Amino acid sequence: MIEIGHLSKTYDLNKAQVHAVNDVSLRIEKGEVYGVIGYSGAGKSTLVRCINFLEKPQAGTIHIDGFGTVYAGKQGLQLEKDGKQAQLKEKDLRQLRRSIGMIFQHFNLLDRSTVFDNVAYPLRYRHLSKKQIEERVDHLLELVNLSEKKNAYPSQLSGGQKQRVAIARALADEPDVLLCDEATSALDPDATESILALLKQLNKELGLTLVVITHEMAVIKEIADKVAVMENGKIVEEGSVYDIFASPKQPITRKFVESSSGLNKIGTLLQHQDSIDLSSPDSKLVKLVFTRESVGDALISQISRDYNVDVSIVLANVDLVEESALGAIIANIKGTKENVENALAYLESRSVRVEGVKA
Ligand SMILES: Nc1ncnc2c1ncn2[C@@H]1O[C@H](COP(=O)(O)OP(=O)(O)OP(=O)(O)O)[C@@H](O)[C@H]1O
Ligand SMILES: [Mg+2]
Repeated sequence: MIEIGHLSKTYDLNKAQVHAVNDVSLRIEKGEVYGVIGYSGAGKSTLVRCINFLEKPQAGTIHIDGFGTVYAGKQGLQLEKDGKQAQLKEKDLRQLRRSIGMIFQHFNLLDRSTVFDNVAYPLRYRHLSKKQIEERVDHLLELVNLSEKKNAYPSQLSGGQKQRVAIARALADEPDVLLCDEATSALDPDATESILALLKQLNKELGLTLVVITHEMAVIKEIADKVAVMENGKIVEEGSVYDIFASPKQPITRKFVESSSGLNKIGTLLQHQDSIDLSSPDSKLVKLVFTRESVGDALISQISRDYNVDVSIVLANVDLVEESALGAIIANIKGTKENVENALAYLESRSVRVEGVKA
């Protein structure tokens, strides 16, 4: 478990101060896939780099199970461990970075070394025989499905293969946690899918805790259990991925959720499509979100019958989030004003989220 309390990191830039991470608190459980999403400059990389102290925060605490609690403050970084407190030393950092691996958007491989040597690199300072190193590297390459590229150089690999090497290298020290900073942002959709599948497999099979930084909601949807939304150095919303997708609260979260849904095309559709009859004063264009509680119920045919309304579906989208269905439709509902309102109130009483859509 990693618990961050009131963490802050400020940079001085040309006499101005940039609050890259501003009073952030969060908790990452062991074995969890924890996503952090935000636009460029939100502070995601700085936050994640504070977790392994590649960046030194100026305030706050970071507790890491099995390592201790680090307090950041005026006296620098103090490590509290087994009831004793002392300055955080290089030796402590080396130990910490063995248990927390990291991968990056641009892979950061050694270009002049083979795949084998790249993966073996972190093992050089361990007291291991040549044979032990070879066995370990072979096992890691098998794990990331790259055994046949053992003697290739990074320039001879595709982006997805390079990221596999980076993952194998990050796993060489058998970490408990893997920090992934935009690990799929430089990859095409196929390679992204296969790297996310590999990360998921490592999470399930090795119990590896993953912290996944991204600006794409599709990545969160694919892999994360929990998500934190970051804006201007702060976490503005946090929750289970399903809940965030089903009912985003903050404007920025809504924007992210909409970006990954087919329903965001409604504006364009309305501009170019005259067949949707919105002229009748007794019709209402709404977005209906069906969550775990309501998906699968025959609610649309029920309201047509019971409230005498006609429902024409304009756009629809069904997603699988955290292995549960999440559906949304944009529908034009026609009937008397009273019937339409009663029908919508009924849907809300059956756990359907109803939102008006501006025509
Ligand atoms: N070394 C630095 N010196 C000064 N300012 C910095 C430094 N590193 C980051 N910043 C600033 O801190 C803020 C957060 O940067 P950070 O790299 O954490 O954002 P990010 O969310 O990872 O963005 P991106 O999606 O573009 O990677 C930005 O305003 C950035 O300019
Ligand atoms: Mg970044």
